[in-house]
Amino acid sequence: MSTTFLLESNNPKLTMHPRRTFFKKILGVGTTLSLTQFANQALAQDVDHSIQQLTQLDTDIAMEQEDLWKRIKQAYRSSPNLLDLNNGGVSPQAIRVQEAEVNYLHLANEAPSFYMWRVFNKTRERTRYRLALLGKCDPACLALTRNTTESINTILAGIDWKAGDEVILSTKDYSSALVAWRQISQRYGVKLRWITPTPPMEDNKLIEKLYLEQINKNTRFIHITQVTNWSGQIIPSKVIRKICDHARSKNIFTLVDGAHSFGLLDFGIEDLGCDAFATSLHKWICAPFGFGLLYLRKDKIADIWPYKPAINARKDDIRKFEHTGTFDIHREQAIGQAIDFHESIGTKLKGERLRFLKDYWCKKAQKEVKGFRLHTSLKASYSCGIALFSIEGIQSSKVIAFLTREKSIHCTGSRIDELDGIRISPHVFTTQQDLDFLIRSLVELTE
Ligand SMILES: Cc1ncc(COP(=O)(O)O)c(C=O)c1O
Repeated sequence: MSTTFLLESNNPKLTMHPRRTFFKKILGVGTTLSLTQFANQALAQDVDHSIQQLTQLDTDIAMEQEDLWKRIKQAYRSSPNLLDLNNGGVSPQAIRVQEAEVNYLHLANEAPSFYMWRVFNKTRERTRYRLALLGKCDPACLALTRNTTESINTILAGIDWKAGDEVILSTKDYSSALVAWRQISQRYGVKLRWITPTPPMEDNKLIEKLYLEQINKNTRFIHITQVTNWSGQIIPSKVIRKICDHARSKNIFTLVDGAHSFGLLDFGIEDLGCDAFATSLHKWICAPFGFGLLYLRKDKIADIWPYKPAINARKDDIRKFEHTGTFDIHREQAIGQAIDFHESIGTKLKGERLRFLKDYWCKKAQKEVKGFRLHTSLKASYSCGIALFSIEGIQSSKVIAFLTREKSIHCTGSRIDELDGIRISPHVFTTQQDLDFLIRSLVELTE
């Protein structure tokens, strides 16, 4: 419970802390609050000023301005005691987004059914429009969901599958998507045709071939992950476009999992040529946790059943996928603040900064860490901020345990097919010094 709330409360059961009473007497409630607000405002202004300076510089020069990037950290409540290098998992929200969420919660509680069902539910069209501008797509094709998983599940559960239908997918697709596909296979007798790419892949023709050579007369669906969560492998937009165009010519449905691309890579959803696109807003848009998007081509909307039943289930109104009961709609309001903050930095600068940081630590580790093996491309078209590495002779779980327990560095890793690796995913405000600490720690481990 916040001090602000205690001081403002009219509830006689909430007894005021003596020290707070003292401050209240000395400073008065208004002064205490405005001091906090003043400090927050000054921080926010410094952040905005730093971003403004960065956006006015040439990209190459902007990348090197560690002092300015470090000041952006003030926009977050990032832990000073833990180095978070798993930002790809879920991104922190800027303080202004967290505060907006809390403010909307307070407002909702003043008259819940009024604010939730007569005010907040009216703002969704504006949010949809702004998200469509970011995704360079038609807002009438964009549904708000809880996350990428829900968006993918909406498509998979909405198709009338027949036994013998075939789906092309990769062993490197996201685990929860694979869970969904296995259930579809088990339930309807759909055959899963796997591709097993080995990262890094840097040959467009080869990537295209991997998918297209699996097509046969039973192929009904192709699932493509734009940026693999594990190795950070990017499938370039023009390759996705070629696969999708070819699939469309054969009446095969295409879905792109863009969990790690939205807000980070400079592309338009509709330029990918896919039928469906799924993403999460709590990754690189840094929106409140638990929001995502489903894009569906206008001419495919009517074909997909909403798995939460809706009156207009067979119509082409994208909002049929949003039909739900009472939920924490106040949190959705803060997406606007997240978009504002995201736009102030911009997708391009965010992506460039993360690519710069990835290149920085990977190149250094290649020189300084014994047995270091990188499984991510250092070519700009094939990776951005995420990189996967392993250390010869040391199990990845041991490397992660050492980094976590001995060095307070948070990262993740997993084994897929034959490759057991550790994933590093910085944020824009992660500094070169932070990454130097990672390298020093790895040197210490391997000496
Ligand atoms: C490629 C990919 N797809 C889907 C997801 C699932 O995202 P969410 O948990 O937000 O649904 C993730 C999460 O990291 C991911 O990396």
